[in-house]
Amino acid sequence: MANDTLSITDNRTGKKYELKIENGCIRAMELRAIKTDPEDFGLMTYDPAFLNTANCKSAITFIDGDKGILEYRGYPIDQLAEKSSHLETSYLLMNGELPTKGELDEYVNKITHHTYVHENIKSFMDGFRYDAHPMSMLGSTVAALSSFYPEAKHVRNLEVRRAQMVRIIAKMPTLAAFSYRHSQGLPYIYPNNDLGYTENFLTMVKSIGKPNWRAHPALVKALDILFILHADHEQNCSTTATRVAGSSEVDPYSAVAAGITALYGPLHGGANEAVLRMLREIGDTKNVPEFVKRVKGGDGTKLMGFGHRVYKNYDPRAKVIKRACDEVFEVTGKNPLLDIAVELERVALQDDYFVQRKLYPNVDFYSGLIYEAMGFPVDFFTCLFAIPRTVGWVTQYEEMITDSEQKIARPRQIFTGTRKRDYVAIEKRA
Ligand code: CMC
Repeated sequence: MANDTLSITDNRTGKKYELKIENGCIRAMELRAIKTDPEDFGLMTYDPAFLNTANCKSAITFIDGDKGILEYRGYPIDQLAEKSSHLETSYLLMNGELPTKGELDEYVNKITHHTYVHENIKSFMDGFRYDAHPMSMLGSTVAALSSFYPEAKHVRNLEVRRAQMVRIIAKMPTLAAFSYRHSQGLPYIYPNNDLGYTENFLTMVKSIGKPNWRAHPALVKALDILFILHADHEQNCSTTATRVAGSSEVDPYSAVAAGITALYGPLHGGANEAVLRMLREIGDTKNVPEFVKRVKGGDGTKLMGFGHRVYKNYDPRAKVIKRACDEVFEVTGKNPLLDIAVELERVALQDDYFVQRKLYPNVDFYSGLIYEAMGFPVDFFTCLFAIPRTVGWVTQYEEMITDSEQKIARPRQIFTGTRKRDYVAIEKRA
């Protein structure tokens, strides 16, 4: 549109400015020209937690939070969850298009042949305490991978970069499984390259004493769907952490380790663990109204698994997971906490407090129930998120590295401290 501009009058000076509006944004750097005098630094925006700031242009994942839409490269998440596999979805995310049969075979083959990790990784995993949190082990070992592949520092070399991306995606299930086995005091199980990505992971985690142990196909399928749902979610906290760390042109292992660290927190990847704790605390469907009252009472209690920075509607991933619950529970038996979750959702969605604030179930509301029914300990849940999100992290990392508009991330601050005072000798301090 010809008049896609924003007119600004600076009332301090009376000067007028016209800023271009592109993609619903103005460029923050254009505000710099707005000054009170030549010495003035220029106008900035203040946006703690990036509530209204686009940090990049991205062609990977589209979200319309008001309508509850999530698409990877244009494909709706429910179609991918129903028809695709995690590795096919990974190919789509990395390459922008669904693969042909030949391309998929080649990709799966590449990933499958990079599942092993250097034997030294095992030795330093042994150095962790017996009760170390698996996420903490996972983050450290992924960071350590960069020391095994020093060529990874050539981040601008497409071939080298892609080789590391494949390695990380391939090794993540192995490292997560090793972390789990360590925390359980069990021997590590090596990858079996005859198995698919998700089945191989389940086998490395679960198999004890039976070389031919096979995971139930319905559980493999359900976990694969969960992997698809978690593969990317545009500029969330961990992806932003990966992009920001990667903007220094550090290797992708180190950048992904930053993403894992961000994911570890209870407001991001740790929320499904908190949902289970909350459901246990509620204990019975009859206690649901009382709990909801407490949340509304403002004592700081939150309805975990509800609310989202972006979705102001039902999280489309939560819908798919709710359906997957039935298939899993048919094999594992129903998780008794499901009834409480369903009742909690019913009561909350009818309550003005939640309706007015547009708080709906998010991806974590039901995923913990599935993970628990599959026999994963709560400490391990975030690793189950980190494995598939690796694809998103490396794809976003590559997009950032190859974006000519990007530079090292370096926000500004508003300084609120004390300035210009003279050093006081220690004996003279009050
Ligand atoms: N229970 C009760 N009240 C809530 C909740 C909740 N789960 N979430 C938000 N609110 C209230 C909040 O208190 C505020 O009320 P008021 O306007 O009266 O102050 C209002 O709703 C707006 O919330 P906000 O804190 O401004 O929202 P945010 O965008 O900063 O936070 C969130 C988003 C996901 C951190 C938050 O909703 C939350 O803590 N939810 C519970 C934790 C959770 O389930 N996290 C998983 C997120 S999805 C996984 C992922 O993508 O990583």
